[in-house]
Amino acid sequence: MKKITIAIDGHSSCGKSTMAKDLAREVGYIYVDTGAMYRSVTLFALRNNMFCEDGSIKTEELKKRLGQIHIEFRLNAETGRPDTYLNGECVEQEIRSLEVSNHVSPIATLAFVREALVAQQQQMGRDKGVVMDGRDIGTVVFPNAELKIFVTASAEVRAQRRYDELQAKGMPADYADILKNVQERDYIDSHREVSPLRKADDAIELDNSNMTIAEQKQWLLEQFKKHSEE
Ligand code: DC
Repeated sequence: MKKITIAIDGHSSCGKSTMAKDLAREVGYIYVDTGAMYRSVTLFALRNNMFCEDGSIKTEELKKRLGQIHIEFRLNAETGRPDTYLNGECVEQEIRSLEVSNHVSPIATLAFVREALVAQQQQMGRDKGVVMDGRDIGTVVFPNAELKIFVTASAEVRAQRRYDELQAKGMPADYADILKNVQERDYIDSHREVSPLRKADDAIELDNSNMTIAEQKQWLLEQFKKHSEE
């Protein structure tokens, strides 16, 4: 079996991360959640008052301070999954809050932010043996990935999943707000000028609206075996 690069792209809250994390653990690959990286930059911008009242971003200020943002993933021995660290602080929970979710799309449209994060992602996956999930992994970050999956599910199913996730963590959640956020992010992610979300021509599409996590896991493992055979 050869070591390969696995790119998993798709809309927000469609279960990409769960699939990608489980697969990485199962086959002993590194997992990189690129959404967490855009979320970390957003948290940094929020904490440093880089959003104006009207929601626009103080881009020059962010550009100047981008070099001060260090993002890394450290394995959590308890969960067996990597946690996101921003300048040495674990921000795994905070980057999933609705406040960060509501501000992340405009941050992800900034070309200078994408350029810096894409370079870091390419560095993280340079030795292959990586499962990376995001929006532009199969199209921009690793256009030569051996296995590309494009995941979709209806907006309602995705909103329900995110609602359940927040509830389970005891975080505040309102279904209508979440659905609105999911729809807005879909629109921005697929209509932005820089690296819009789109399926790579050679990606395999997976609509998981009616699939259980176990079914997805099995399907993904089969794809992995097929694509990593010598
Ligand atoms: O996957 P997520 O919901 O955690 O992603 C957060 C945001 O970051 C989402 O609005 C899209 C953006 N994103 C991106 O533009 N490119 C990526 N590779 C990953 C995420």
